[in-house]
Amino acid sequence: MVVILDATEGDLAKIYEIEVQSFDQPYSLKLLKAYLFLSEGLYIVAKEHDEILGYAIGLIQNRFKGHVISIATARGARRKGIGSALLQELNSRFVSMGSTYSYLEVEVKNRDAISFYSHNKYHISYTRRNYYGKNRHAFIMIKLLKGNYDLD
Ligand SMILES: CC(C)(COP(=O)(O)OP(=O)(O)OC[C@H]1O[C@@H](n2cnc3c(N)ncnc32)[C@H](O)[C@@H]1OP(=O)(O)O)[C@@H](O)C(=O)NCCC(=O)NCCS
Repeated sequence: MVVILDATEGDLAKIYEIEVQSFDQPYSLKLLKAYLFLSEGLYIVAKEHDEILGYAIGLIQNRFKGHVISIATARGARRKGIGSALLQELNSRFVSMGSTYSYLEVEVKNRDAISFYSHNKYHISYTRRNYYGKNRHAFIMIKLLKGNYDLD
């Protein structure tokens, strides 16, 4: 059974391994470690039989904006609901910490991730040009968690 737990320092090596296999510009191990402190309570892993199969990191900005900083599932464990379970848990933690919506950046050409977020009821709000570098634009995708919201 897959369980979602708070990430610990002992999980970092595996989180980094998943990060490297998932992104062409992966976060460094040092940054992934720094988020353990920056994202306390919003840094989670999916584990099965003690093996880490995915992770997610969030931050709350301006007290009400839940920001999905990163999410990835190990290559061999994709399309089994793990990413969705991580996202759901992160969003329920956002709500319990006062967030009214959840948002993220996703590269315009990352069709797989856009499908994943759409499946999880996120909508494209606008485009942030050159967010990932020259000619590498990002969509900002948003999901309302409760009530009304403003986008500034
Ligand atoms: C995006 C990612 C986290 C999805 O994780 P996952 O554990 O495979 O996701 P789920 O199994 O919960 O997928 C739920 C649904 O999302 C959609 N989806 C997920 N991956 C998809 C893909 N590669 N292509 C199309 N739709 C996809 C499907 O509707 C899927 O349901 P289905 O399998 O019943 O068709 C994973 O592919 C990943 O780690 N990618 C690399 C890192 C990345 O791009 N992260 C996002 C950065 S913004």
